[in-house]
Amino acid sequence: MKGVILAGGTGSRLYPLTRITNKHLLPIFDRPMIAWAIEAVVQAGIEEVMLVTGGTHAGEFLRLLGNGHDYGLERLLYAYQERPGGIAEALGLAERFVGDDPVLVMLADNIVERSLRGVVQGFETQGRGARVVLSEVGDPVHLRHLGVPAFSADGRIERILEKPEQPPSPYAVTGIYCYDAEVFDVVHRLRPSARGELEITDVNNWYVEQGRMAFDVLEGFWGDAGESIEAYWAVNDFVRAHGANKG
Ligand code: DAU
Repeated sequence: MKGVILAGGTGSRLYPLTRITNKHLLPIFDRPMIAWAIEAVVQAGIEEVMLVTGGTHAGEFLRLLGNGHDYGLERLLYAYQERPGGIAEALGLAERFVGDDPVLVMLADNIVERSLRGVVQGFETQGRGARVVLSEVGDPVHLRHLGVPAFSADGRIERILEKPEQPPSPYAVTGIYCYDAEVFDVVHRLRPSARGELEITDVNNWYVEQGRMAFDVLEGFWGDAGESIEAYWAVNDFVRAHGANKG
């Protein structure tokens, strides 16, 4: 299984901090945010990763991460996203790197308390399709900034709503996704959303419609450190007190 870590975008919700650096280079406790995502992917058993970034500070990632060996990676490749055209567009840049392999995709502003190994093992058993990782959030105010699944009576995901006014369940779709190689055909067929981006939620809903979407519910803490300045500090406080990526 290959890994793709997405660290592009503008980070506008963390302005002015992100006017002078890339969001994923900001500190979370004792290291840059990106280092936690790399650790999570390595701990899940993945050795080959492509990091997608963009903007004016892309070179700093190379300076920090180099060839990835110090972080436990066998191979670390880089792709440059010309403009923030959406999460699915950023994923599309990894098409040749991923080839026919399954892929674990992680948004670099997501932090998890527990290992993702079970998620990867679950997808290996699943074999094809897609798998999203949910986290119980509860608070509707918070959920309005995230992707939220609606469930059918028999407990399958029926639809994922992006930033819904009325969240249909207490779960967030985290920025951790597993896909088979067909995901790149899906990305090619996407049309930009109202905000002009290729949306990962549209990719996920394609798999839902095909009946090939599975999910896990995370145990322990999950945070999106890019959601707001409050969320950024809540993630910092949690990681400082409890750590992250624990076996
Ligand atoms: O964190 C989980 C949430 O992430 C999900 O619940 C949502 O369904 C999903 O759409 C996403 O929402 P965000 O509003 O947090 O997405 P954002 O635009 O902040 O992008 C998240 C990360 O994706 C960001 O840290 C870097 C990467 N990204 C984003 C864009 C728009 C790119 O690499 N390139 C891009 O063009």
